[in-house]
Amino acid sequence: MRHWDQDGHDVLLCNHAGEIRALGGACPHANGPLAQGNFADGLVVCPWHAWEFDTATGACTHNGRAAVPCYQTEIHQGVIHIRLA
Ligand code: FES
Repeated sequence: MRHWDQDGHDVLLCNHAGEIRALGGACPHANGPLAQGNFADGLVVCPWHAWEFDTATGACTHNGRAAVPCYQTEIHQGVIHIRLA
């Protein structure tokens, strides 16, 4: 996983089985740093209180009202483009 701030967006980038996924990097529970959590099977786990998020949708797996933003990605000539809108 990679993490950075882009124009005020806290972005987390991960590779799940060759699919590049981008989502918000701050946990909606208490702003934990998702980039410091575990990533396996397409799921990222917040390091602070273990909330788990599906990197395909941004949805929290155990709290239907919680989610992180999920951004569209494309790869052109080896460069990853992320639509932050
Ligand atoms: S801050 Fe992420 S689970 Fe609490």
